[in-house]
Amino acid sequence: MTLKLKVNGQNVELAIPPTTPLLNALRNDLALNGPKYGCGLGECGACSVLVDGMAARACVLTVASVVGREVTTLDGLADKDRLDPVQQAFIDAQAAQCGYCLNGMIISIRSLLNHTSAPSSGQIGAALEHHLCRCGTHLEILDAAHRAVA
Ligand code: FES
Repeated sequence: MTLKLKVNGQNVELAIPPTTPLLNALRNDLALNGPKYGCGLGECGACSVLVDGMAARACVLTVASVVGREVTTLDGLADKDRLDPVQQAFIDAQAAQCGYCLNGMIISIRSLLNHTSAPSSGQIGAALEHHLCRCGTHLEILDAAHRAVA
C-alpha cells in the first residue's frame, strides 16, 4: 500500500505499513532528522512536528493519520537560506546546551505563533510545559521564546 503525504511542502509517497509511527517514517524513510526520538510515548516533546500548522507528537501519530494533511518538520521551517524567526531567536538566545530537546520546542513556539499573534508569558509557558529538557537551560529557552514572540 502506498501512502501519499505532503511533508515540508513536497508530495511524497511511502510504501510502508499505515500504522508506522510518523516519527519513524520521517526519520527512517524521508531522512528528516529534525524531529528527535526521546520517549516514544508522547510525553517529552522531542519528536514534535507541525500538522496543519499545529504542534503534534510524531511518535504517537500513525503515518496514515496524516494522509492529506500538511506535515512540517524543523527541517522545513526555514525559507531557503533564511531561518524561521523562532529558529533565529533560539540561536540568538544561545538556548542550547545539548540541544536535543530544542527542535521540538521551536516547533511548539512556531505553532503558538501560528495561532496567537501576541502570546502572553502564560501562553508561552503553556506551549513549553510538556517539553522535557535534561540540561536545565530553562531560562535561556524562555528567553528565546520571548525573543521569538517579540
Ligand atoms: Fe515523542 Fe517523546 S519522542 S513525545
